[in-house]
Amino acid sequence: MRRAKITVIGGGFVGSTCAHWAAAKELGDIVLLDIVEGMPQGKALDLMQSGPVERFDARVTGTNSYSDTAGSDVVIITSGIARKPGMSRDDLMATNLKIVRSVTKEVAAASPNAVIIVVSNPLDAMVYAAFKESKFPTNRVLGQAGVLDTARYRTFIGMELNCSVEDIDALLLGGHGDDMVPLPRYTSVAGIPVTQLIKKDRLDAIVDRTRKGGGEIVALLKTGSAYYAPAAATVQMAEAIIKDKRRILPCAAFCKNEFGVGGHFVGVPCMLGRNGMEKVIEIELDAEEKKMFQTSVDHVKELCAWVDKNWSAAE
Ligand code: LAC
Repeated sequence: MRRAKITVIGGGFVGSTCAHWAAAKELGDIVLLDIVEGMPQGKALDLMQSGPVERFDARVTGTNSYSDTAGSDVVIITSGIARKPGMSRDDLMATNLKIVRSVTKEVAAASPNAVIIVVSNPLDAMVYAAFKESKFPTNRVLGQAGVLDTARYRTFIGMELNCSVEDIDALLLGGHGDDMVPLPRYTSVAGIPVTQLIKKDRLDAIVDRTRKGGGEIVALLKTGSAYYAPAAATVQMAEAIIKDKRRILPCAAFCKNEFGVGGHFVGVPCMLGRNGMEKVIEIELDAEEKKMFQTSVDHVKELCAWVDKNWSAAE
């Protein structure tokens, strides 16, 4: 059987940690690309040399050339600058739009059949930019946000209940901004609705901490943003696609009629398989959940309008 090929664009903390998780899971051959000469090559070699210790087989190639990425099954785009304390994800827009556009152009030419997973921020706008630049069908462009955001939410629930995070399942909708919508009604611990285990005021506090979860880490790190959980979340999506697992995960996916979104990439539960986004799973929302989702979608629409307006200037 042919081995899958996974390319990670950007050899920074998120990119190299994606390569790390993907190698450890033996997902296939991994290519790590960065513009800095020597850095991706060095990290790739170092990562391969951890294989004998951890007992995994993975070919990891570091490169500065897109020709090495040719024919990838999945391409993860992490390129761009990260937040500094006090910045919102939206503050990264102008710089990262240029970067994501130029990277996507190369990616699409080298791997015309790949599924692209965007991680760069502001996430929802950068997914749209990658879609627009690649001209790929909507099912082959996805954004990673919901798996990370639900992982934070599940972590905080585990801390509150002092129980294993393995038994916590959760869902979250909307954009990857502070108006994201964690859904306690769709959150359970070993099948028990979380609303039976945690009181409303404590759950509200957990939801609030989840929404600001990225900023909490930026404020602590001071020089960049989170990378272990973002990378683990991205590789979970890549694994579902490569292994055609048909997992249902919250991702930034294209919604036309689904949830009444009207043609935007937003965070929704989505089935991931060999075709990338196999389908969006619609769920019932109550009035309050609908209102919060709409606020988040409106924010995403504003960001995408900015992308359209500044498209040619970002070439
Ligand atoms: C975060 C950044 C990566 O949420 O968006 O940590």
